[in-house]
Amino acid sequence: MLPEPLDIRGVKLFKEALAPAQQAALVEDLRAVQAQAPLFSPETRFGKKMSVRMTSAGKYGWYTDRRGYRYEPRHPDGQPWPPIPEPVLDLWRATTGLGRDPDCCLINYYGEGARMGLHQDRDEADFNWPVMSVSLGDEGLFRIGNAERGGKTESIWLKSGDVLLLTGPSRLLFHGVDRIRFGSSSLLARGGRINLTCRVVD
Ligand code: SIN
Ligand code: MN
Repeated sequence: MLPEPLDIRGVKLFKEALAPAQQAALVEDLRAVQAQAPLFSPETRFGKKMSVRMTSAGKYGWYTDRRGYRYEPRHPDGQPWPPIPEPVLDLWRATTGLGRDPDCCLINYYGEGARMGLHQDRDEADFNWPVMSVSLGDEGLFRIGNAERGGKTESIWLKSGDVLLLTGPSRLLFHGVDRIRFGSSSLLARGGRINLTCRVVD
């Protein structure tokens, strides 16, 4: 059973939606995805290497280089992305209530010192579909802003097992991760934080 979500500027936060055993099982599934589609550090369109390492599962993977932000049907090594793990799809169906599954599950890995600047998720065709985000491992300080750049922001610590939905008016809010508390969780043997973001792309 999912907990009742908290509401932060329209973002729905399901605290500890995944129990510790489910988190550990999911990490194993993600290990299998990474064995097929290894993590890489892409460059932003401004030519700056991202501090987060990433890979994807699903029909598309999110990708960036100097040509810009986009979805690609293949990993940079030329292989199609592995399928989205079933527990992730179950969580998407349970939190969104949708009959349409996501096309992409982006897997972000934050090592010590990694962060993600404030941005909107707007590389998808239709913003009526929600974005689901799952946090695993070390705690991350998640900042939520506004629909336009600037203005007051609010920050919350996301813990392992927490699930967020950016839905309705919160779908296009600026958001980012200022820092992680490296070593705050024992879920990942080498520490760090994993974030999954699932999106309908087409
Ligand atoms: C993202 O916005 O792509 C990642 C968010 C997070 O790491 O919590
Ligand atoms: Mn995002």
